[in-house]
Amino acid sequence: MTAPLVAQADAKAIVPIAVLASGRGSNFDAISRAIDAGWLGAKVVAVVSDQPDAPVLDKARALGIPTSVVPAISSKEEPDRVTRRKKHDARVLEALAPANPRFLVMAGYMRVVTPVLIEAFRSERGYSRITNIHPSLLPAFPGVESYAQAYRYGTCLSGATVHLVEETVDSGPICAQESFSILGCQSEKEVEKLGLAIEHRLYPQTLAWVLAENFEVEYRHSPPALRRLCVRPN
Ligand code: GRF
Repeated sequence: MTAPLVAQADAKAIVPIAVLASGRGSNFDAISRAIDAGWLGAKVVAVVSDQPDAPVLDKARALGIPTSVVPAISSKEEPDRVTRRKKHDARVLEALAPANPRFLVMAGYMRVVTPVLIEAFRSERGYSRITNIHPSLLPAFPGVESYAQAYRYGTCLSGATVHLVEETVDSGPICAQESFSILGCQSEKEVEKLGLAIEHRLYPQTLAWVLAENFEVEYRHSPPALRRLCVRPN
């Protein structure tokens, strides 16, 4: 069955969410504004960062939201990279426990998450309740500095993708994508500026229907290929 992707906000349900972020926090701001404005049925119950000086932490504190810093584990403390990441995620889970969020919202979280976190947020229907926004039209330009990658490559279009998070980086089911022309851009910064303006609308709008969990994951290929979320017809 193929259903159109249609944003459906359930304004009545207030879903507790935790934001994971490593830096500036402009997407966190956009989400907070949407909640304040009353059209995103969510409450940010915790903000977790791996960076003690991340500006997002001050922004959250200013709003009275509990914050935690879970710094990266050193290779001295744990030499094995995979184990190190898993131990880090276990600490994130501990930090989140008092807030008991239903969803994790990754917004500029510069870490690869492991099954320790993903399985803790796995729904009964099989999808992960972890979202991310990526600054490209996935599967193009995964990884870091994706707006710059698009500019350097010389593409005509860039874009942003909101997806559910699975173990393979930047590859979970796609919730929403939006493209924009970068033909007129003269620098990577210009692409980023246009992209962020789109992200700040796209992420809260998408969360409004994803958090309501009124969707099906449409499997077109076997994992880890990208899949798309379709809103379930009522
Ligand atoms: C955004 O471009 C987001 O797509 C990417 O990292 C950036 C975070 O920006 N994952 P901010 O911290 O939300 O301002």
